[in-house]
Amino acid sequence: MEQVRRDFEGVASRWDSNPTRLKIAQDVGDAILRMVQLTPQMDVLDYGCGTGLIAMRLQPQVRSVCGADSSPAMIAVLQDKITTLKPGNVSAQLVDFEHGAHAAGEYDLIVSSMVTHHIPDTAALLREWKRLLRPRGQIAFADLDTEDGAFHGDNTGVFHLGFDRAALRRLLLAEGYTDVRDTTATVVRKEVAGNTREFPIFLIAARLA
Ligand SMILES: C[S@@+](CC[C@H](N)C(=O)[O-])C[C@H]1O[C@@H](n2cnc3c(N)ncnc32)[C@H](O)[C@@H]1O
Repeated sequence: MEQVRRDFEGVASRWDSNPTRLKIAQDVGDAILRMVQLTPQMDVLDYGCGTGLIAMRLQPQVRSVCGADSSPAMIAVLQDKITTLKPGNVSAQLVDFEHGAHAAGEYDLIVSSMVTHHIPDTAALLREWKRLLRPRGQIAFADLDTEDGAFHGDNTGVFHLGFDRAALRRLLLAEGYTDVRDTTATVVRKEVAGNTREFPIFLIAARLA
């Protein structure tokens, strides 16, 4: 049965105006820089790049960054940044591995922020990333710790209410990744039904064995 997806098309043009989203991307970018040694020889894929906030942040430190996303409107915003800012080493591609549009290229590092909860089969995604990685390639992805559905409020297209880090570690090892480690990248504070709630976001990193 076709799963109902979240509609990112309508929000793409306003994505970068939301301070919470900007802060999450900033903090996740910082956590990636702390946890993964970037080098000028690296080709990086930002999977579910949205408007390319993380891709543009990492690009000065690596050979290339490709932003991949299933939303044409998100990719269009990133493409505008590429045209305007001319970083020289950033590209964009439309992907959707669940519908047969597989990402192209070979990468030394795949990063991803706040995407995995929108993809039903996490193990299949980890296998897709393995296919795209060079030998000893690395991944680093950020998402919510287990929550009760209050983070989004409307959980259309949210297939995981956060993740249990220990379960993710086991899954990564089972899928052939090694050197698995995690950190708390940021904590989002939101008003929910009159209360301030805290939603921690982890960054988990691993590499191919
Ligand atoms: C919450 S947004 C995060 C965007 C960006 N990573 C950021 O931090 O600003 C999730 C993104 O994942 C993308 N996405 C959802 N499902 C996807 C899939 N199956 N393949 C690729 N991208 C996907 C959406 O289009 C959206 O841009």
